[in-house]
Amino acid sequence: MSGRMARRQPRRVLVLLHPGLMPPDSLEGHAPKAVVEWRAEYDVITTLRAAGHEVRVIGVLDSLDALQAEVQRWEPDIVFNLLEEFDGITSHDQHVVGLLEMLRQPYTGCNPRGLLLSRDKGLSKQVFAFHGIPTPAFAVFDDAQVKRLPQGLQFPLFVKSTTDDASLGIAQASIVHDLAALRERVAFVYERNRSAVLVEEFIEGRECYVGVLGNDRLTTLPAWELDFGSMPTQLATIATRKVKWDFDYRQRHGIGSRPATGLPPGADKAMARIAREVYRALGLSGFARMDFRVRSDGGVFVLEANANPHLAAHEDFARSAAAAGMDYPALIGRLLTLGLAYRSHWRILYG
Ligand SMILES: Nc1ncnc2c1ncn2[C@@H]1O[C@H](COP(=O)(O)OP(=O)(O)OP(=O)(O)O)[C@@H](O)[C@H]1O
Ligand SMILES: [Mg+2]
Repeated sequence: MSGRMARRQPRRVLVLLHPGLMPPDSLEGHAPKAVVEWRAEYDVITTLRAAGHEVRVIGVLDSLDALQAEVQRWEPDIVFNLLEEFDGITSHDQHVVGLLEMLRQPYTGCNPRGLLLSRDKGLSKQVFAFHGIPTPAFAVFDDAQVKRLPQGLQFPLFVKSTTDDASLGIAQASIVHDLAALRERVAFVYERNRSAVLVEEFIEGRECYVGVLGNDRLTTLPAWELDFGSMPTQLATIATRKVKWDFDYRQRHGIGSRPATGLPPGADKAMARIAREVYRALGLSGFARMDFRVRSDGGVFVLEANANPHLAAHEDFARSAAAAGMDYPALIGRLLTLGLAYRSHWRILYG
């Protein structure tokens, strides 16, 4: 429905992206490995144009001047936000969206506060704990020193940065079985990122993702599962950097994703409910994907919330939307509608 609506009403859409991910006009002559890099940007832009919108594209690296000038000069109906960093800093994307808010400019995807909360895994888990949302037991270390095992935590544990995403620094060695290995990995992650380190209980189980769309009324998409294919059995089934992003490794082991079927009874419903609770608890808007682990006894744990998840047509979010009957043009149309309808402070105050 939203796809048809979008076609009926052409909009001025300013697509905001990283200049290094500016896609070419056609996929022809580009190796699949290279295409993966800017596929989401390519898919969004071609889909917007095919729907009849007037589209301009702007790359933002480390200056906001051109963006501000374009917003003020062209007065786009909406900015389609595909930016995931500013000046090489991922957590700065919330400030770019903050600028759009201050310019009273509608945009797609998540609001600055939701971006801030979801990017900080330690902070979001504290919010989950307050709301009784099931998440692995955890502790946050603000430096490289682990004196003793924090109370209430049991090995095996999982060690990761509180703020990195895209599985940066996630490897088999992220799972630790004793205090010596815990100390070593915490020091390693701290050295690498100079940011707080999150230690949480390792959840053995299946890996599922649930997409959510909406501002006030929320739609959950069918659970999607990461299929580890023929990965060697001595390796833990976790989404390491290699599993997620190494094109050749994924091909070699048949790693991919598919609808999550045959889950323990109740797990499906529990994930949909928890995904909505997480979305509201963090005040997200637009769209997001929640990452879960599902134990064989049916226990469901949320690992993190990803605001503005990857939008390529072949990626988990769009595929699970398609499985729910929302094809890619309809999904992109829906994101525009949600962005235009989002009740930000300036709109509440000034209409
Ligand atoms: N507590 C845990 N128990 C089991 N596996 C975990 C745990 N924490 C993380 N993992 C594994 O590590 C992967 C990456 O963790 P997480 O999603 O927290 O990090 P990320 O780098 O933000 O990932 P993304 O690529 O989704 O942005 C998870 O998808 C999961 O496979
Ligand atoms: Mg994740």
